[in-house]
Amino acid sequence: MKILITAGPTRESIDPVRFLSNRSTGKMGYALVWAAVEARHEVRLISGPVSLSAPVGVDVIYVLSAEDMLRAVQDNLEWCDLLIMSAAVSDWRPSSVSAVKLKKANMSGTLELERTPDVLQSIMSDKGERVFVGFAAETGDPVQEAKRKLVEKGLDLIVANDVAADDAGFAVDTNRVTLLFADGRREDWPLMSKVEVAKKLMMELGL
Ligand code: CTP
Repeated sequence: MKILITAGPTRESIDPVRFLSNRSTGKMGYALVWAAVEARHEVRLISGPVSLSAPVGVDVIYVLSAEDMLRAVQDNLEWCDLLIMSAAVSDWRPSSVSAVKLKKANMSGTLELERTPDVLQSIMSDKGERVFVGFAAETGDPVQEAKRKLVEKGLDLIVANDVAADDAGFAVDTNRVTLLFADGRREDWPLMSKVEVAKKLMMELGL
């Protein structure tokens, strides 16, 4: 099976020095890459800026912004049978990027933002027979919001996690996830390492 995985955060430039981003470290996405390689699948990774290494032999496409990530996903979509969007894509970017460092004396204290493209929604119409898996980063009960995203983003499965918990979400080695399938099935998995979640997810997908 050919698996395309996105991982890590995106960065949206403000000027040559500053950017907007989020707390994603790519741990869940890279664990998925290792699990997919271990299960002998062909893997391509589209990675935002992280300090992790991918397994030898995996094609890695490094991207910075949400726009770059969208382009990379579009370029590799036809190749894949399964897309796993575990990246934490920035939802907003500055309306304009300054080519020179902004000087505090000239800044008003307000940054004008615009929406970035939604990667999954942009590629929904090209899904075909491919399986699409998304992740939902939520604070509090993740299920209601994840259900909405499952439908709005045309997913077969969404993996929801409470990123506000100390032992789940960003920058930790463990995760506690709820799986919501398009056919209405729901599974609540106990606290596990991200490596275990990744391996179990591969099995869940029949891989
Ligand atoms: N996603 C995407 N493009 C974006 C934002 C998110 O494709 N611009 C994908 C993520 O990779 C993930 C899923 O959509 O698989 C849900 O991401 P999440 O950040 O939880 O949701 P948002 O779409 O940002 O919605 P909200 O701001 O309402 O939480």
